[in-house]
Amino acid sequence: MELDKKFIETMIREHPRAPGDGGETLTRFDACPKLFFGTDSLDALLRLPKEKAIVVTDPYMVKSGTVAEITSRLAQNRIEHVIFSEIEPDPSIETVAAGLQVIFREKPGTVIALGGGSAIDATKAMLYFCLRFKSGLMETQYIHRPMFIAIPTTSGTGSEVTSYAVISDRLQGVKIPLRHRSMIPDVAILDPHFTKTLPASMVAYTGMDVLTHAIEAYVSPQSNDFTAMFAVEAARITLRSLPALYGDVQDRTMREKMYSASTMAGLAFTNSGLGLCHGIAHTIGAQYHIPHGKANAVVLPYVVLFNAGLGPYRRPGARARYAQLARKLGMQAADDVELCQMMVLTARVLCEQFEIPTSLADCDVPEDVFYGDMAQNIDKILEDACTKANPLDVNREDLRALLDDLYRGVLTVFPK
Ligand SMILES: NC(=O)c1ccc[n+]([C@@H]2O[C@H](COP(=O)([O-])OP(=O)(O)OC[C@H]3O[C@@H](n4cnc5c(N)ncnc54)[C@H](O)[C@@H]3O)[C@@H](O)[C@H]2O)c1
Ligand SMILES: [Fe+2]
Repeated sequence: MELDKKFIETMIREHPRAPGDGGETLTRFDACPKLFFGTDSLDALLRLPKEKAIVVTDPYMVKSGTVAEITSRLAQNRIEHVIFSEIEPDPSIETVAAGLQVIFREKPGTVIALGGGSAIDATKAMLYFCLRFKSGLMETQYIHRPMFIAIPTTSGTGSEVTSYAVISDRLQGVKIPLRHRSMIPDVAILDPHFTKTLPASMVAYTGMDVLTHAIEAYVSPQSNDFTAMFAVEAARITLRSLPALYGDVQDRTMREKMYSASTMAGLAFTNSGLGLCHGIAHTIGAQYHIPHGKANAVVLPYVVLFNAGLGPYRRPGARARYAQLARKLGMQAADDVELCQMMVLTARVLCEQFEIPTSLADCDVPEDVFYGDMAQNIDKILEDACTKANPLDVNREDLRALLDDLYRGVLTVFPK
């Protein structure tokens, strides 16, 4: 029996937007997946149980022969397998529904996600909605969840260790961050040779995503000693390695460093949450088709300025926290204001170095379209689960001023 795709799409579309995990009141740190990393790490696939496997990936991974590295090991281990390779960047509800149909049809014992955040997130959403659908039909103890293996090819989203999945509702023009512990993979395989085909622009975008994860995780109200440790190390590695990697994308050591930083930042933010930068990036990314890491890179300096109460912004809610992070990253200055200014400038200088635009106007968003969309963009940003985790409450007036500066590229680090 094949489930009707329209039915599946409706189930996903009508799912609550920011479900969380429901009722968890204890503070905890999830470090769930078993991590295999380094040169021979793919051989972990040779140890899989002999149950049918599905590989979920994107068309590039098939065309480039990357997926064959997975399937050859499955074949070597005599594991029957199916490839679902329809994942597009920023995967849609429709794609998740199509993949879910394949899962219902094939009934795999193992599901392997191969690709960037898009392939891993789509797989998470498929598995999540598969479990939700089944839980409406039978008692939880009778539901079998396939083993879930994530193999990231970007450095990156950290999705291989997080409980988040971001899927796009193209009808509404929004990105929906889903969050549930059942979406954390059981195993992550980190083989850095997978990132060697990334072009410099993608290295920069995905690396700036790592930096944003680390900074937002560190200043989050949910941050704790464990998340802070991973966030600081991820930010430290990124500041040291990303410029060098951008200069030579084949530099193996730097690629390995960024791969580790990406997973560390994932471990930090999956436990502490993110913040306003991701709330805005989800909205403008979906609305104006800006890749996720690039959107974060453009927005990050403005959000640090806002949260630290610098320039035109007057509420220094998270200033001490940014300053503390700056000190841990080795920055030195006379006071917290100067340290926060250095943080803003660091994020801005990296954008310039990586040839990433520093305003939304420079991302080719037409002015009349942007200001026409302002009210609904503000609604979407306020609705986003990441915005709700920001260290400072945000209202419509704040967002209007921030988005206006962001569009025009007005970053007032040193007011007159
Ligand atoms: N789940 C999470 O915790 C989390 C966190 C941040 C972002 N996200 C989401 O992840 C998505 C972005 O993921 P991403 O930045 O990893 O990119 P992506 O998965 O969207 O991939 C972008 C493009 O890069 C290509 N690509 C991927 N790896 C490659 C490689 N090694 N060589 C050459 N090309 C390669 C892909 O084929 C694709 O065309 C967004 O939808 C974002 O919202 C999720
Ligand atoms: Fe991100």
